[in-house]
Amino acid sequence: MKIIIDTEENIAKRAAQRYVELLKEKPDAVLGGATGSTPLGLYAELARLCAAGEISFKDVKTFNLDEYVGLDGSHDQSYRYFMNKNLFEKIDIDINNTHVPSGINTEGCEQYDEEIKAAGGIDLQLLGIGVDGHIGFNEPGTPWDSVTHVVELEQNTREVNSRFFSSIDEVPTHAVTMGIKTVMNARGIILMAIGKSKAEIVKAFIEGPVTEEVPASILQLHPNTEVYLDPEAAALLSK
Ligand code: GLP
Repeated sequence: MKIIIDTEENIAKRAAQRYVELLKEKPDAVLGGATGSTPLGLYAELARLCAAGEISFKDVKTFNLDEYVGLDGSHDQSYRYFMNKNLFEKIDIDINNTHVPSGINTEGCEQYDEEIKAAGGIDLQLLGIGVDGHIGFNEPGTPWDSVTHVVELEQNTREVNSRFFSSIDEVPTHAVTMGIKTVMNARGIILMAIGKSKAEIVKAFIEGPVTEEVPASILQLHPNTEVYLDPEAAALLSK
């Protein structure tokens, strides 16, 4: 894993340059998308670069990590809505080339892995991290060989994410997420983490053992992963 530590603003810019380089080399790359507050700076920078003509997504395909079960794309807390609003509507992508797992038709969701394969596999997967080490919605204990599946969310994850809903009761109890194997199949991975609430889990997944109890720790075994941290998220790293 390559670790990059810089200000919140700079990590967004530096991660965005990875996309500029990738799309220069491969304009029809397949990108893995993530939600949460962490990628917002990166998405704003990609939108800015696109408006400035420095990057184009017109031949790009995207596959998002996850979606809440029970929310359709018109719900303002669905991840489809988030992606449309924060990225897809601001860049020159063909919306038909964007994929978010359905939170409504979850039966057969493992087919999502086949769709990714048919598109040529993911060139660059973006990840945030939950305070419990989850990537996508792969909570602690998720098997390493998991593909896209429905999960029951940890109470703590629902509490953390309740800040976006009017009350915790409205936070869905389940989600559909790419599995750990789906994520590890990506040819390149970028994980971003910002703020002191992530410092402990950042230390655990980078310096601790590779264990299903810390889902992101599997990234230690991925051949091409970059981790972008702000100084607060990196504060507990020993080197
Ligand atoms: C959610 C998402 C994850 C995301 C995590 C962290 O649970 N399913 O993909 O990485 O939250 O979110 P934030 O970036 O807001 O801290």
